[in-house]
Amino acid sequence: MSGFRIVILASGNGSNLQAILDRLHGREGIEVVGVGSDKPAARALERARAAGVETAIFPHDEYADRAARDVAIGDWIEASGADLVALAGYMQLLSAEFVARFRGRIVNVHPALLPSFPGLDAIGQALEAGVAVTGVSVHFVDEGVDTGPVIAQRQVPVPTDRDRAKLEQAIHATEHELYPEAIRMIAAGKVRIDASDPHAVVVDE
Ligand code: GRF
Repeated sequence: MSGFRIVILASGNGSNLQAILDRLHGREGIEVVGVGSDKPAARALERARAAGVETAIFPHDEYADRAARDVAIGDWIEASGADLVALAGYMQLLSAEFVARFRGRIVNVHPALLPSFPGLDAIGQALEAGVAVTGVSVHFVDEGVDTGPVIAQRQVPVPTDRDRAKLEQAIHATEHELYPEAIRMIAAGKVRIDASDPHAVVVDE
């Protein structure tokens, strides 16, 4: 298996998946080799099929517990030969065993400047907090909720009228730029967790 192989896990709309397909898939040796979802009706799966990418579904109620499901997902990922697991709106917590199995090879995009506003509804949290600037983070996934080392961040100003729809649109547009850029740097071997400080990421220019 050659090139840099990515598996994406997604639960919903899949606009970040689409950005990765449009900007990276089939270019510079990067291939999206699979899209997995916990939701059989996820639009993300339609987007994958439209791009000719293999899909797999891992519904919650087909497994005894999360750990069992994550073993099945992990086996599928390993069989695909993936170099990287990219979460793109995957709305399930991953088991500690899954994180350990793919440590340093799982990334996520989050709609805030972490460590501010982790968890659900980060955009609502930012509006509630009254900040003037929020943004987007791409980070490695560790055992916590949005606590892993940050790879890249970009600011997004909160509109002066604090309109949620406008802010969402600006954040998503920024995600669609930043996530593929960060994955491209990872694929090029330019991103590593600092050996002396596991909370820090070193990015080669
Ligand atoms: C994005 O806002 C992402 O930051 C968050 O979930 C949302 C997924 O959107 N983790 P989409 O499914 O990629 O459109």
